[in-house]
Amino acid sequence: MNYTLKVAEIRKETADTVTLCFKQPGLKKIKYLAGQYLTLIFRINGRRYIRPYSFSSCPGFDAFLEITVKRVKNGIVSNHINDMVSVGDSIEVMPPMGDFIFEEESLFTDVYFWGVGSGITPLISIMKYILSTKPNIRVHLNYGNKNHETTIFKDQIQQLIAQYPVHLLVRHFHTKLFVDESHPHLIQGRIDQDKALQILDDKLDPKTCAHYICGPAGLKESVKKAIVVKYGFLANVFSEDFELIKDPKDFEDVHTQNILINFEGIEHRLEISKGKSILEAALNADIELPYSCQTGNCSTCKGKLTVGQAKMIGLSKERDDLAADEFLLCCTHPLTENVQISI
Ligand SMILES: Cc1cc2nc3c(=O)[nH]c(=O)nc-3n(C[C@H](O)[C@H](O)[C@H](O)COP(=O)(O)OP(=O)(O)OC[C@H]3O[C@@H](n4cnc5c(N)ncnc54)[C@H](O)[C@@H]3O)c2cc1C
Ligand code: FES
Repeated sequence: MNYTLKVAEIRKETADTVTLCFKQPGLKKIKYLAGQYLTLIFRINGRRYIRPYSFSSCPGFDAFLEITVKRVKNGIVSNHINDMVSVGDSIEVMPPMGDFIFEEESLFTDVYFWGVGSGITPLISIMKYILSTKPNIRVHLNYGNKNHETTIFKDQIQQLIAQYPVHLLVRHFHTKLFVDESHPHLIQGRIDQDKALQILDDKLDPKTCAHYICGPAGLKESVKKAIVVKYGFLANVFSEDFELIKDPKDFEDVHTQNILINFEGIEHRLEISKGKSILEAALNADIELPYSCQTGNCSTCKGKLTVGQAKMIGLSKERDDLAADEFLLCCTHPLTENVQISI
C-alpha cells in the first residue's frame, strides 16, 4: 500500500542537489532501515513517472524522512524535484525497499564507505546508523567529488566528525583541486585502484572489515580490485547501483521483436526495439506496468514468460529467488518473435 507524504522542509545541498524532508504520516509511521530507498511517484505532463531515491536520513537519528536528489542532465524527475517541488506539497510514495543495509549479525570492526557524488546518500544513512548505535566500529568514509562546492553533505559530514572524532575518519577526493600538504584528508584526483590500495590497512583482518560502495561502475571495480590485490580475496563487499549497467556484448543475440503482454487481463501488442527493455517499451507506449528501481533489484516489475524465450541483461546481483519462467521486465529482452508475458 502506498503512502502520501508531505514535504516539511527543502534543503539546498549544492547548486544542483536538494534534500526533501518529509513528515512521518500521522497514523501509520513509515518504518525503514538505514540504506534503503523510498520510491516517489509523480504525474508530469499526464505521464506517470516512478523513481527510487535512497534515504539520506537514518531512523532514530533524524526526525524527518529525507531523500537527496541530484539533477541528471535532461532527467525528467530529478529536475522536476529540484525545480517544482515546494514545502507543503504531498507526494505519493511506495513502501521502503532495498537490501543495501548494515549486516546486523556481523562482527565488523572497520566499515569502509566508498562513494562518489550522489552515491553518498545511502552511505551517510548507514554511517549515521553505525556511528550512533555501534560504538565498537570504526567508520572510514572515502568520498569523491569535483571540489568543495559540489560536495553533498559537506557540513553534515563535518558535524559528524566533530560528534564522533575517534570513530569517524573521512578522506575527501577532489578531481578539480590542487591540494597542499596541510590538508592530509583532502586528496587530489579520483578514487582509483592505487588510491584504494593505499587506504586499505594490511594490519586489519579483512574478515572483520566491510566495504559499502555507491557510485559509478568504475568505482566499484577499482575498490574490488584493490581489495583482491591487498588481501587476496573479496569479502564483505556491498554495493548499490543507481543505474542499470549494460554490456553491449550481451545484446549480440537480441533483435527487435514484437511481443504480446497480458496486463491485468488486457492484451497489448508491442514492438521491443533492440536495446530497450520490455518495461521501457511498455512505459513508452503508456502501459502503466508496476516498477520501482529499474535495476533488477526490487522485483516490482516481475512478469511471467508464458511463450517464447527472453533474457535478463544488467542484473548486478544473482537472483536465485526467481522461478525459471519469472522475469524482471526492467532488464528483460525478448530473444524470439513469439514472446508472451503475463503480469
Ligand atoms: C536504488 C536507487 C537509489 C537511488 N538513489 C538516488 C539518490 O539518493 N539520489 C539521486 O539523485 N538519485 C538516486 N537514484 C537515481 C534516481 O532514481 C533516478 O534514476 C535519477 O534521479 C534520474 O531520474 P530522471 O527522471 O531525472 O532521469 P531520466 O529522465 O530517467 O533519465 C534521463 C537520462 O539520464 C540518464 N540517467 C538516469 N539516471 C542517471 C544517473 N543516476 N546518473 C547519470 N545519468 C542518469 C538516463 O540514462 C537518461 O539518458 C537512485 C536509483 C536507484 C536505482
Ligand atoms: S523495477 Fe525493480 S526489479 Fe524491475
